[in-house]
Amino acid sequence: MTEQLIPSRRAFPADDPIFALNAEAQAFKAGGGSVLNATVGALLDDAGQLVVLETVMDLWRSLGALEVAPYAPIAGEPAFLKVLVQRHWPSVSGPGAACATPGGSGALGLSLRNFLERGQTVLTTAPFWGPYATLAAENGMAVATAPWPGAGESLDAAVWDAALRSLMTAQGRVLVWLNDPCHNPTGRSLSAADRAILAGLLREVAQLGPVTLLLDFAYLDYTREPGAVAAALEDYATLGAEGQVLVGACMSLSKSMTLYGARGGAIAFPWSRDPALQAALTQSCRGTWSNCPKAPQALLLRLAQDGKSQARLAAEHRHWSEVLAARAVSLDTALVGEGLAPLHWQGGFFVTVPVAEPGATCGRLKREGVFTVPLPDSLRVGLCGMRADEAPRLVQALRLAMPH
Ligand SMILES: Cc1ncc(COP(=O)(O)O)c(C=O)c1O
Repeated sequence: MTEQLIPSRRAFPADDPIFALNAEAQAFKAGGGSVLNATVGALLDDAGQLVVLETVMDLWRSLGALEVAPYAPIAGEPAFLKVLVQRHWPSVSGPGAACATPGGSGALGLSLRNFLERGQTVLTTAPFWGPYATLAAENGMAVATAPWPGAGESLDAAVWDAALRSLMTAQGRVLVWLNDPCHNPTGRSLSAADRAILAGLLREVAQLGPVTLLLDFAYLDYTREPGAVAAALEDYATLGAEGQVLVGACMSLSKSMTLYGARGGAIAFPWSRDPALQAALTQSCRGTWSNCPKAPQALLLRLAQDGKSQARLAAEHRHWSEVLAARAVSLDTALVGEGLAPLHWQGGFFVTVPVAEPGATCGRLKREGVFTVPLPDSLRVGLCGMRADEAPRLVQALRLAMPH
């Protein structure tokens, strides 16, 4: 043990659990086993190759030295922030209080440091993307959850209300991370009715103290229902424009542009013009990463000026959304065929299959060469990494592995 390492930093797992499972799947394959690897978190084509959007790569190759090498402004290129926000909300006139961040992760971390005190708790959904807990822990904070509706169910308003009120009572402020629409890991979005209920609860609790709703937009371009995604964004815009609840968004270029490694993204509060909020965000940037990579910002600006590339990119997004939809349909068909409930994927890279003993079930599946990620009440299946024709194998293995 490195004595220099302070005691509170000595007991972490060697590897991220999902990356570790992926490594196990690779090892199984290397040992000659036939593997169905549904742990992957990036979009793969049916040959198992990483999907890299061609439109984006063409734009990337066209970037000149001065679009790559210089520092971007500390808070990001103002034009980039505007374009990124308008990709989500075309009718807003500007980004509001905003700054560039390294991916959505940077935006999430920065929100913790500006809207909560150390020792406080952020509210999100159960299940949630695992690194939320890591981000909170790294900032001396905790995560509380309220349930994401199950397939065909509606939001449990009473539990959400109690969670919001108890945090407001305990800490005098509330920060909610909401990964909607296209939720990771369930693959479903809130219905319009559920969104209206949640907005009502947030408005009510905002009478008691400051409430921030941070929308974590990671997968919006990969959906079966682009119209429903646009409608959801409009609902959130209405809530933001009212001004009672501070509404903002984490926007990531990782999935939307398949630029996972470029670390592009932003946090923005399009309905705030508060110079103090802007100054706090800029201060966090300077004190955390100084400046974010310039190239992804320059790429988005090129895209905004190039209608042909926009149309080509939209077609690529549609194509890959259809591929994901076909994988989801095939999984639901196989589930129903085995007497299990369908999952009704709407968007994103994942779905969750509810199971009674996720850890043990995941272990039994691994012995069959089927790799999934165990969550507290379910298994996460990466539609992004499997083929549609693998669904029957996955479901048959699952049927046998599930506790009886
Ligand atoms: C729900 C969710 N939020 C945020 C992110 C952040 O990704 P990045 O930091 O690469 O933008 C991810 C990535 O997997 C995610 O699934």
